[in-house]
Amino acid sequence: MKTVTVNAASGSYPVHIGRGLLSDPDLIAGLVPGMQVFLVSNETVGPLYSASLGKTLEKFETSGYELPDGERFKNLEYFSVLLDRLVDSGMHRDATILSLGGGVVSDIAGFAAACYQRGIAHIICPTTLLAQADAAIGGKTAINHEGGKNLVGAFHQPLAVVSDLATLDTLDDRHMRAGMAEIVKSALIADETFFTWLENHAGEVLMRDQQALIHAIESTCRIKARIVSEDEKESGPRALLNLGHSFAHAIETESDYRYLHGEAVAVGLLLAAEVAVRVGLAGAELVQRICNLNEKCGLPTGIEGLEPGKLAKRMALDKKVLSGKLTLVLPEKPGSAVLCDSFDPALPESVMREYCR
Ligand SMILES: NC(=O)c1ccc[n+]([C@@H]2O[C@H](COP(=O)([O-])OP(=O)(O)OC[C@H]3O[C@@H](n4cnc5c(N)ncnc54)[C@H](O)[C@@H]3O)[C@@H](O)[C@H]2O)c1
Ligand SMILES: [Zn+2]
Repeated sequence: MKTVTVNAASGSYPVHIGRGLLSDPDLIAGLVPGMQVFLVSNETVGPLYSASLGKTLEKFETSGYELPDGERFKNLEYFSVLLDRLVDSGMHRDATILSLGGGVVSDIAGFAAACYQRGIAHIICPTTLLAQADAAIGGKTAINHEGGKNLVGAFHQPLAVVSDLATLDTLDDRHMRAGMAEIVKSALIADETFFTWLENHAGEVLMRDQQALIHAIESTCRIKARIVSEDEKESGPRALLNLGHSFAHAIETESDYRYLHGEAVAVGLLLAAEVAVRVGLAGAELVQRICNLNEKCGLPTGIEGLEPGKLAKRMALDKKVLSGKLTLVLPEKPGSAVLCDSFDPALPESVMREYCR
């Protein structure tokens, strides 16, 4: 088992990564502070893996809820259902929410943990590559609003993250590929050596080679842990983790979630790099390297069936511009990205137009 520690200003916590961690009855039991556990999963993951937690949970007073499966249920309606269930099952202030699932489950369960009784403990057991490498770390919780993705949420760091690689055995290839996008993103922001490693080993990660998987997840967690430790509430460098995301959120919502988050991020990385080239921050070869890596990962390299004008409108709605000007994170070269708001406001739309098919 590998452990990465996140030292956030509001507290430190471990991210455990390894195979078979969910079926270790002592690991999670040792992390739960009180006697009550509320398990949040969804209708796909719950039946697959909640039994693995059986022995762990035996010692506790447990209840739980399985959400319907899908990004579209990460909303106010199901947030409210979760709160109702927490109240109905008599969860106290010292209860722990244990979330078991991908980023959708940990985002909504985390938001419920942030709000119930002004905040209760949350232990995240992420079961997708995207959640193990990214969504479970850093304490961002959210639900979607019709006006935009993740528009309502809170910062609430988990008590611990337990990433069991065995859960990835049942994850379909499309979601494995989508998870790679956040891994590529982190390398692009902060670690040139890791980016080069991905150019050579992405295939092994996708084939679920255990050593390659651990290296990819651990490296990405370390990057995120370091950035979150410097800037928990995103007043500075944490914003760099949004590389590609202004484009991605527009693509996800405009496509009515036909694009998975990671797929949209993959295109977003390319679009951000293209903008960086246009404003003179990056050389054209950066676009080519990202494009090649996306292809290697089986990720999209263009926008299918969406209108650039509508996407640009969505970007203007994004929460990052509600306060004024659109600020983008732009990559300079592998391992380095910057915030930029000095570009022609028409540039994002014209770049998207070129990538629309
Ligand atoms: N909080 C953050 O910092 C952060 C960061 C990145 C993404 N996110 C959010 O994460 C969400 C995307 O997360 P995701 O990609 O994990 O999607 P997801 O949670 O929708 O999971 C993808 C699909 O895989 C299924 N699944 C999950 N684990 C499985 C397993 N082990 N075996 C078989 N099927 C399994 C799920 O039921 C779902 O159908 C988005 O809502 C995004 O906004 C949050
Ligand atoms: Zn993301």
